[in-house]
Amino acid sequence: MKKILMIFIASWVSSAVAAQAPAASISSPSKTLGVNFYLSATGEPSYKVFYKGKDVVADSRLGFDLKNQADMANGFKVVSTKATRVDQTWEQPWGEERFIRNHYNQLRVALREASGAKRKMDVVFRVYDDGIGFRYEFPKQASMESLEILHELTQFNMAADHAAWWTPAQAGNQYEYLYKQSPISKMGLVHTPVTMKTADGLYIALHEAALHNYSTMNVTGANAGNISATLVPISKNMPTAVRLPIPAVTPWRTLQIEESAADLMTNYLTLNLNEPNKLGDVSWIKPAKYVGIWWELHLEKTTWKSGEKHGATTANTKKYIDFAARHGFAGVLVEGWNTGWDGEWWLPGGGNAFNFYTPMPDFDVAELSRYAQQKGVYIIGHHETGAAIENYESQLEDAFAFLERYGMKAVKTGYVETGEELVNGLYHHGQFYVNHAQRVIDIAAKHKVAVVAHETVKDTGERRTYPNIISREVARGQEYDAWSADGGNPPNHTAILPFTRMLSGPMDFTPGAFELTLPSRPKNQVNTTLAKQLALYVVIYSPVQMASDLPEHYEQHPDAFQFIKDVAVDWETTRPLGGEIGEYVAIARKARNSDDWFVGALTNESARTLEVKLDFLDADKQYTARIYHDGKDAHYAKNPGSYGVKEMEVKTGDAISLQLAPGGGAAISLIAR
Ligand code: NOJ
Repeated sequence: MKKILMIFIASWVSSAVAAQAPAASISSPSKTLGVNFYLSATGEPSYKVFYKGKDVVADSRLGFDLKNQADMANGFKVVSTKATRVDQTWEQPWGEERFIRNHYNQLRVALREASGAKRKMDVVFRVYDDGIGFRYEFPKQASMESLEILHELTQFNMAADHAAWWTPAQAGNQYEYLYKQSPISKMGLVHTPVTMKTADGLYIALHEAALHNYSTMNVTGANAGNISATLVPISKNMPTAVRLPIPAVTPWRTLQIEESAADLMTNYLTLNLNEPNKLGDVSWIKPAKYVGIWWELHLEKTTWKSGEKHGATTANTKKYIDFAARHGFAGVLVEGWNTGWDGEWWLPGGGNAFNFYTPMPDFDVAELSRYAQQKGVYIIGHHETGAAIENYESQLEDAFAFLERYGMKAVKTGYVETGEELVNGLYHHGQFYVNHAQRVIDIAAKHKVAVVAHETVKDTGERRTYPNIISREVARGQEYDAWSADGGNPPNHTAILPFTRMLSGPMDFTPGAFELTLPSRPKNQVNTTLAKQLALYVVIYSPVQMASDLPEHYEQHPDAFQFIKDVAVDWETTRPLGGEIGEYVAIARKARNSDDWFVGALTNESARTLEVKLDFLDADKQYTARIYHDGKDAHYAKNPGSYGVKEMEVKTGDAISLQLAPGGGAAISLIAR
C-alpha cells in the first residue's frame, strides 16, 4: 500500500511540474526544437526539450550541491530573461568541413536567490535546429568568490527508456571499451557521447562541449530513461568534483538530435559551442599522413625498451624515413626513442623514469632530424608518460623545446595507466587532469607542435579554440587487434564509432593493416577485410592518419596501397550517405584544395549490398572512380585478404553498387578530370 501511494505521489508531483507554466521558452531558428525553462514553487530550476512538438527531455533538474556553503538547487527567482539570435559561418583551419554555420537562438535566464546570500547564477540555453546546449554561468558577485562543487544536479530525463550505445565510465580502463547497447535504465555510469535511439527513430547524442577547468561529465542511467550528470571527483578520498574561482562558466551540456543516424556524423553542435581559435596564425598546423615504428612494437617484432630488439634505432628510423619519402608521407612516428622504457613503466610510478629530451644511445636524433629534413619529412615525437604527470610536467618546457629544435612538428602523447584511473590519487578524468591536458596544449602551441593525444581525456570540441590539439585516441583503436585477449575489435566496432565516439572529435585509430592474420600473434587477427581497412581512412575522421602496417606489407600490395597514398586528410565537405548504429556506414568527403572525392563504406559481421548514388559530384566534371572492394570470397575471419580494384568513368547521378563481405568494406577514390 505504501509503495502504491508513493508512486501515486511521485507521478502527481511530476505531472504538477509538467503542467506548470514555463518561466521562459526559446525555440530553434526554424522552430524544430524548443526548450522550456521552469522554476517550481520552491524556486527549483528545471527544463524540458521538445522536438517537433513532442517531448524529448521531460522535466529535468538544474543546479548544484556545494561544499562549505548552501547548495544552489532551489530558492531562486528569475531576475531577467534575454533572448538573442546568432547566425554566423566560420572557417575551420583544417577539418571535416571547411565552413560551419553557427545558427542558434539563445536564452539567458538570470537567477538570484530570493533570500539569504542572494547568490547569482545564470542558465544559458543555445537552441539549434539540430540540438541544444546549455551551461551555467556564475557572474562576479560579492557574496560568492569561489565554489566547490560536490555534485552537479543536472538531469537529462529522456521521454522514454530508449536504446542507448555506451561505454562504462570509471571502470579501470579509461575510455578503451567495446560499446554496449542496452536501455538507458540498464547502462549504469557511462562516458559521453552516449547515443540513443527512440522508438520513433529519432537519434539523440548526449555529450558536453568546451570542457575547460572543470571535471569530466559522466552520466548515469536510471529507470524510465532518466539520466543524471555524474562529475568525476578530484580524488578518491575527496568528494569535491570541481573548484572554481568566480566568475566562471561550466562546460556546455549538449544534446545532438537527428532523424537519421547518418546525419549525426555531420552534426557540428559541439564545435559551434567552443570558442573561436585563440592561437592566431595556425598555418603551421598541417593535416598529414604518417608511418612509423609502432605496429612492429605491438606485434612484438621489436621493443620499446633497449637491447637487441630495440625498434627505435637510427638505422630502422632511416628505413621508415626512406619509405615515407618514397611514398609521400609527411611524418614518421618513432616510439621508444627516449630513456625510461626499461622498467615497468605502465605500473603506478613506473613512468617517473621517462625523460623526454634524452634519446637512447642508438637513436641519433641530430642525424635523424637532418636526414628526415633532407628527405622532406619530419619525425613525430612520442611522449609516453605512464600517467606520471608530475614527472612530465616538470620536463614540459625542455621536452617541447627539444621537439622544436629537431623539427618535430607533432607529438603523440600517452597516459597508459593500469587500475583505477588514478594518478597519484587523483582521477585521470577529473579537473586536475583536464587542466594538465590544457597545459600540454598551451606549451605545444608555444613551440608550434601539434598534439595527438592517446589515453587523454575525451574530446569536447577544443580543437576549434586550440587547433593544435589535432587528434586523440580515447576509444579502442586498432592496436587492440594485435594483443587484446578478447581477440581484438569485432567487426561492428567501427560501425558503432562513427555514431558515438566520433561525435566528440577526430580519432587516431591507426588503420591500414594489410597483413590481417598476424603470424607473430597467432591468437589475434585484424577482424576486417583489407578493403575495410581502406574504408576506415574516410569513415573514421582524423586530420592525421597513420598507415600503420609495416613497409614490406604495403610493398606487397601496391595497388591497394595506392588508395592510402591518394586519400586526402583535409576536407572541404562531408556527406553522410547512410548508416545504422552497429550495422553499416557510408560517407563521402571532398578533398580540400582539389575536386577529388573519396568514399568509405563498411559493414559489421553481415554481408550487404550498398547502392552509392553519386549525386554529390560536381555537375560539370567527369571522374575516374577507382573502387577498392572485397573479393567475392572475402570474409573478415576466413579470408580477410581477398580484395579487388576496378576502375570506371562516372559523373553525377550515376550509382555504384558495392558488395560488402562479412566484416568488409569498400573505398572509392573519385578523381576529377
Ligand atoms: C598506448 C598507445 O595507444 C599506443 O599507441 C602506444 O604505442 C603505447 N601506448 C605505448 O606508448
